[in-house]
Amino acid sequence: MLKGNKVGLRARHEDDIPILQSELHDDVANAARAQGRPWRPLTPGSKHSQFVVDDTEQGHVPFSVVELAGGTLVGTATLWGIDDHHRSAHIGLGLLPSSRGKGYGTDVVAVLCHYGFIVRGLQRLQIETLSDNEAMLRSAERNGFVREGLMRSSAWVMGEFLDEVLLGLLVQDWKPDSKG
Ligand SMILES: CC(C)(COP(=O)(O)OP(=O)(O)OC[C@H]1O[C@@H](n2cnc3c(N)ncnc32)[C@H](O)[C@@H]1OP(=O)(O)O)[C@@H](O)C(=O)NCCC(=O)NCCS
Repeated sequence: MLKGNKVGLRARHEDDIPILQSELHDDVANAARAQGRPWRPLTPGSKHSQFVVDDTEQGHVPFSVVELAGGTLVGTATLWGIDDHHRSAHIGLGLLPSSRGKGYGTDVVAVLCHYGFIVRGLQRLQIETLSDNEAMLRSAERNGFVREGLMRSSAWVMGEFLDEVLLGLLVQDWKPDSKG
């Protein structure tokens, strides 16, 4: 398990999936904002759930996020789009509604940076998020990510086009335990 100050990132367990499915995917408004593709209902136990892990997929590394104290599941975190030539990847995360606003998101980003830069030897990490997602923007900026661009009307979310912000962090600018 990878450890931050408050959370740990571990492999996906079978019994995490129904919790993530009901708390993150089945909430249509949340899923529409976070997933970047049209929402559709999924049969319980479906192998097509986004939370089912394919361990052979090299460029996509999903974690379950747990509280360090007690080990309770609090969300999901992913290093995705890993490009071994350009040594870059993207970060994605989603916390259960009851676990938001407690500093976990900031800690998850820190742990994903450690995984990307130290364990995987990457040189650039990237995050795309809706421009009104203050908690995500702040979690990224607290870890040293800088806003590199605004992608105007790039996301279709529940009946309207919204802007997305592109944030990047280079390994040489990364300060572990940075408090922004
Ligand atoms: C985005 C998300 C991962 C952030 O994690 P979090 O644990 O809620 O964020 P934190 O508690 O670490 O807070 C980070 C900062 O944002 C601020 N913040 C938290 N919630 C906020 C809110 N609703 N509005 C404005 N600011 C907020 C905090 O005060 C903190 O600021 P500080 O560093 O100046 O103290 C989490 O809220 C979440 O899972 N949201 C739903 C899914 C999602 O949006 N995923 C990202 C898709 S790109």
